Amino acid sequence: MEIDINFVDRHVLVFGGTTGINFDVGQAFARRGARVCVVSRKRENVDGAVAALLGHGALVHGACADVRDFDAVGAAIDGAVSRFGPIDVLVSGAAGNFLCEANAISANGFRAVVDIDLIGTFHVLRQAYGHLRKPGASIINITAPQATVPMRYQAHAAAAKAGIDQLTRVLALEWGADGVRVNAISPGPIDATEGFRKLIARTDAELAAAEAAVPLRRFGTTSDIANLALFLASPYASYISGAVVPCDGGGALDSVKPAIERAGADFPDRV
Ligand code: HXC
Ligand code: NAP
Repeated sequence: MEIDINFVDRHVLVFGGTTGINFDVGQAFARRGARVCVVSRKRENVDGAVAALLGHGALVHGACADVRDFDAVGAAIDGAVSRFGPIDVLVSGAAGNFLCEANAISANGFRAVVDIDLIGTFHVLRQAYGHLRKPGASIINITAPQATVPMRYQAHAAAAKAGIDQLTRVLALEWGADGVRVNAISPGPIDATEGFRKLIARTDAELAAAEAAVPLRRFGTTSDIANLALFLASPYASYISGAVVPCDGGGALDSVKPAIERAGADFPDRV
């Protein structure tokens, strides 16, 4: 499904935008005329994403930064802004995850996921604030159903994503007066990445059972998330702020939880 929404010459900056869901979000904006900047840690991912986005004829910029490094995030944003000007759409979606019982996660393992998902999101939003188009900018954080549906083996990611949900709401309060909207998307099971496969199922039978458990009877696609991001960033959503919007085929209503817990139980080495 294509929605006719135009972002010609808008500056769209996507953290964690070089693979998977977030890459497709950037791609959707590029197809609609946006100037897109993608940021992540690995040079090969940044270069690959930039090359693919250039294929759409878009103006593209890429930068390497680890969202755990506040100064590196600032430098990446400075580079993007000097190239494309004030930020119209900011997507914060960098994340790390693995399946592990809480009593087996090391302090550093818990910290790594919280640092990437939650503190990284704060770094991105805090460093971007001075460069957002005011009024008019739209911020979209990428959260997950674990924020509200407790799932075994996901203590670190669940805590971090719950923090992202509340950060989204608080910043919607504080930045609303600037004309900046702050929302979050909570993707359900999107079968697009290795990360998803390692979290949800080890065998084809487990994968099929997980898919059958989704109320809409299918896994989501990256386009499902990209279409929601286009909508949230568009004038059609100009009165929406502080919302955490599920895009999950109804999965947060519980059905995905057993699949993830079963996968965790089946992984003697966890991942
Ligand atoms: C237990 C683990 C572990 C595992 C790492 N650790 N993997 N502990 N089980 N499988 C521990 C390490 O032992 C170490 O602790 C600490 O975590 C940090 O590990 P590093 O490898 O040094 O960290 P780093 O290189 O920074 O990598 C961070 C990462 C990694 C989160 C561990 O997986 C990563 O970079 N992931 C990015 C890609 C990703 O995961 N994408 C999936 C997003 S999907 P010690 O104590 O030994 O030092 C997603 C979907 C959610 O979020 C919803 C699904 C439905
Ligand atoms: P993915 O392909 O692994 O994407 C993660 C992205 O974040 C990559 O571009 C990665 O690139 C980057 N990244 C990871 N750690 C980083 C760091 N420390 N600093 C900067 N960038 C970093 O996973 P995905 O499944 O598409 O997930 C995308 C988002 O959707 C995440 O926020 C995830 O929690 C959320 N989500 C996914 C699902 C799903 O079903 N897949 C469900 C719910 C929520 P580098 O490795 O180059 O850094």
